[in-house]
Formats: sequence, structure tokens, C-alpha cells
Amino acid sequence: MKKAGIFGGTFNPPHIGHIESVMAAKQQLDLDLLYLIPTGHPPHKPLPEDSPEPEQRLSMLKLASRALSETVVSDMETARGKISYTADTLHELREKYPDTQYWLIMGGDMFLSIEQWYRVDYIFRHSTIAVFARAQEKEKIKAHMKKLGLEYGAKTVYIRTKPLDISSTELRRMLKAREGLEFLQPDIYAYIVSNRLYGVKPDFRWLLSMSLKRHDAKRIPHVLGTEQEAVKLAERWGGDPDEARTAAILHDITKNLKQDEQLLLCEKYGIIIDSVEIKTEKLLHAKTGARVAYEEFGISQNVYDAIFWHTTGKADMSLLEKILYLADYIEPTREFDGIDRLRDLCYRDLNKALKLALSMSILEMESRGIVPHPRSSEALRFLDDA
Ligand SMILES: [Fe+2]
Ligand SMILES: [Fe+2]
Repeated sequence: MKKAGIFGGTFNPPHIGHIESVMAAKQQLDLDLLYLIPTGHPPHKPLPEDSPEPEQRLSMLKLASRALSETVVSDMETARGKISYTADTLHELREKYPDTQYWLIMGGDMFLSIEQWYRVDYIFRHSTIAVFARAQEKEKIKAHMKKLGLEYGAKTVYIRTKPLDISSTELRRMLKAREGLEFLQPDIYAYIVSNRLYGVKPDFRWLLSMSLKRHDAKRIPHVLGTEQEAVKLAERWGGDPDEARTAAILHDITKNLKQDEQLLLCEKYGIIIDSVEIKTEKLLHAKTGARVAYEEFGISQNVYDAIFWHTTGKADMSLLEKILYLADYIEPTREFDGIDRLRDLCYRDLNKALKLALSMSILEMESRGIVPHPRSSEALRFLDDA
């Protein structure tokens, strides 16, 4: 007889507490196979409103299961499209694989309410209930096990584990507050961010590490300097420091790519490029960077725009666009003639500073025989007219 464990739940989202518990169960019960089965519509209470689609919970669980061997992530409950009952799932598995012994793996809270479940007598008859719980709950769980054994002939087993002191509800709250990273596998956290699930705001340490990975060593001080300067400028001029920080961390995210790789990204995302951008190697990373940041890091439209215009500027720039343009220009590692005056002006008069930076940039490009992008002159004219 094969031994299989069934671990169900909403997995909203799947966190490392789930994985650690199920690994402990698999090892202690010496299971040959493990089924991870996300619930479609749970019978007892509906999922919270901001929950992802069942397919997204399924995808996250598939990512989580990569850490586990002999594990199957099953869509049998999500595909049912109606209220999920464990008894139906057990029945379906027994029909398909009759030569298997089943263990239902669950946490202490679930176990204490199991008598209310649909067709619980069927569940008790055809499976063993494996319960993991916190040490302080052990006595209560053991007493309940005894009771169910006497009343229903239920077979139960206690799993020794140290369940993480985190609930999915708490974790969803943390994700909105740039917290909770440590409770999720890295690829699941990245999935949540790129799919904008749970109203997540990315943890800045994570965002920075994702960004720095894509830069060579010599650009890292520039990214860190831009981050620092952008936050200071946002604080000085009443901008949103978090948006400024995000934009600065990600602004050069594709700068390391070669021109042909930039062009491939433009093709992939349908980015329209003009005749100057196609000739000038360092311009394209603004557009491709904005798009990559949008796809992978869940940025807002404001941050997208700031990154999109950060190399050339444009007429009528927003506060965040000005902040990023200038932070990129004057961050602490930059050195060129006139920088002290420009830095000083950035904190006294933002528009005057922008005018000065734009004209310096145009002059510098002309002196190197590069045609400046006409958008920079448009940005200057707009400031002159204002
Ligand atoms: Fe840049
Ligand atoms: Fe930069």
C-alpha cells in the first residue's frame, strides 16, 4: 500500500509555515506521496475580497512545491468551481487510486472544528488525521483526538513541528506594509509583487537587491546614491519619498543591457522608439527600464513615468519626474564642473535647477558630438515659458 498525505487549504498565500509543516508531516509519517490541494470556494467562510484568482493560488503553490519532493499540486478542488468539500476530494482520490492509504494533514484550528465538516464520518473511516499544532496547544489537541477516537473511531496522529507564528490574514496585512518577505519563498514573493496581489508594496531591501543584481559593480554606488538623493529631494519638495525611492532604485534597471537586447525588449513590449533613440545607445534604457519595472515590480503609473522620462526630461514634468531626473544628475558620486552650484540650486529652486541641469546636459552632449534628444530642449522651453 502506498502512503499519501493530503494537505488542503486556501493557501492565500502559501507561506513557509505551510511548507515546513507539510515537510515535517511527510517525514514523520514516512509518506510516499503528498497532494497539495488548494480550495476553490471554502465551505465555511468566503475568501477575503482582495484574494487572487484560484488559478493564481494554484500557480503560487506550484512554485512552493518546488522545494518538496514526491509532491503533486492538484487543481481538483479549484477546477470543481463550487464549494470544496474534503470528503469529495478524498472520495475522488480513493476511486482513482484505491491501493493507497490516506492521511489528512491539517493545523490545530481546523482539527478542533472537524466535527462540523461535511461527511466527517466518511473522512474518519477512510483516512487518518495528522495534526500539527503549536506546543501550547498540544494538550487540547490530544484531548480532542481521544474524544474523536471514542465517538467516531477516528484515527489520529500528532505531528511534531514548530508552526510559524504567522497567519495568512496577518501576512496579507504585512504585505501591504512592505513587510512579510521573510515568511515567503523568494519566487512566491516575486510572483505576488509582479502580479500586484494583496495590495502588496514591495519591501525596499528586496527591491534594492533585485535591482543591484542587474548592475555591474561600478554602477552600484550610482544606484544607491540616486536612491539617497531622490528621497532627500522628495522630502524637501513635498513629494512622496516612497515613490521617489522606488523610482530611483529601479531607474537604471536595464542599463546593463546591450543595444540589441534593448531593441528586443522594445519589440517584446511594443515600445515605440524614435529616430534619435535608435541611434543613441544610452537613451533606450529609460523606456525599457520603465516597462520592466512595471511588469516585474508592480510600480505605479507615477513611478513608471518618472523612469520613462529620466534620460531626456520632457515638457511639463511632474514633481516625481523632476526629482528623479535631478537625483540621477547630482547624486553624491557624481563629479563635474558646476555640480556644487547645481546641488545647491536643487534644494533652493527645483525648476531653476532643472533648467540648469537640462542645459548642462545638452551642452555636454553637443561637446561630445552627440545629438541631444529634442525632448530635452522642449523641456527647457517649457520651463522658460512658465
Ligand atoms: Fe539612466
Ligand atoms: Fe542613472
